[in-house]
Amino acid sequence: MIYLDNNATTPLDPKVCEKTSWFLREHFGNPSSLYPIGRDARELVTEARQIIASALGAGRSEIIFTGSGTESDNFALRGVFDAFPDKDELITSAIEHPAVIETASYLERQGKKVTYVPVDTFGRIDLEALKAALSPRTALISVMHSNNEIGTIQSISEISRIAKESGTLVHTDAVQSFGKIPVDVDALGVDLLSISAHKVYGPKGVGALYIRKGTRIQPLIYGGHQERQLRSGTENTAGIVGFGEAVRILGERSEEDNERIAGLAARLKQGIEDEIPKIHFNGPEAERVKSTLNFSFPGLEAEAILLALATKDIYVATGSACSEDSEEVSHVLNAIGMRPEFARSTLRISLGRFNTEDDVDTVLRELPEIVRKLREISAFDPDLD
Ligand SMILES: Cc1ncc(COP(=O)(O)O)c(C=O)c1O
Repeated sequence: MIYLDNNATTPLDPKVCEKTSWFLREHFGNPSSLYPIGRDARELVTEARQIIASALGAGRSEIIFTGSGTESDNFALRGVFDAFPDKDELITSAIEHPAVIETASYLERQGKKVTYVPVDTFGRIDLEALKAALSPRTALISVMHSNNEIGTIQSISEISRIAKESGTLVHTDAVQSFGKIPVDVDALGVDLLSISAHKVYGPKGVGALYIRKGTRIQPLIYGGHQERQLRSGTENTAGIVGFGEAVRILGERSEEDNERIAGLAARLKQGIEDEIPKIHFNGPEAERVKSTLNFSFPGLEAEAILLALATKDIYVATGSACSEDSEEVSHVLNAIGMRPEFARSTLRISLGRFNTEDDVDTVLRELPEIVRKLREISAFDPDLD
């Protein structure tokens, strides 16, 4: 199998698997219990929290574990609005993940005003439009660090600088950037930041929200007193311990991995561009997470290419894995100004830790042939478009 959909999810690192299995076998205690087996579980959760906090340049008490990146995003947006009843405006971007877009639209239904700041053809947010939208009533700016479909990296530190002038809080969804590019909460200047374990070779169903000390926020989930009363419910202890292990491994090898992955991605990109005529690369050349490659193949349905690749055991995504089961065209591709028929021809290839030179060779052998055959049977002539 050649797995090239690492932005959708990543394979569990074997060491994470080992640590999680060990934990599940040896530690069933409830971390809230005062006796030794509870204390042991609590200590392991604390250790994971410390590893994750250090990786983000944060303090341990600033990390709240959640059930997913989606929950972290919901918590950040709804939690801030619940804490600031006197403010009723949110600024976000047109290319956020549905976890933010749908929460923003929920807030709109609650009577809040939401500004979706546009982006240019490379997916870069219009900072002047963001500045123009800011008002004393703005409770929060939420802009993703890097985009899951086209990899565009936003200048979050610049956004934070603008926000600080008016005392507005800043949240960033760093689910796709964490582990791939440096993510430091002070360098970014953010008050809230979301991450998710399964994008960094950790288990599914566990995420975290960084909340800068002193930030006013209300919980999303009420109940027991877990997570400093900000996220009740008995912790997903095995998931958290696995998340910690995954982040510990990032510290050991992500720099080297990312350099190697960037090299593989660059070779794959060049090979595809050399071998397949009349395609279009989407996203910026420079300010991009290098492991994300997004191409349009005008005249073809991306799904047909995806399925043909799958018969060769090569797994990629169409425009966005998050909208894979939807007929709708990706809102990200729409926001960068792509026509719907063009968007429907778009494929996302995202590389990760376990990809090899051989994987790149195989894709470069199979993909041009698949595209050539599909074009032969397609009525569309890209020259006439
Ligand atoms: C940018 C971004 N934010 C949030 C999420 C949601 O994370 P999770 O799958 O942990 O809910 C994803 C997952 O695709 C993502 O890419």
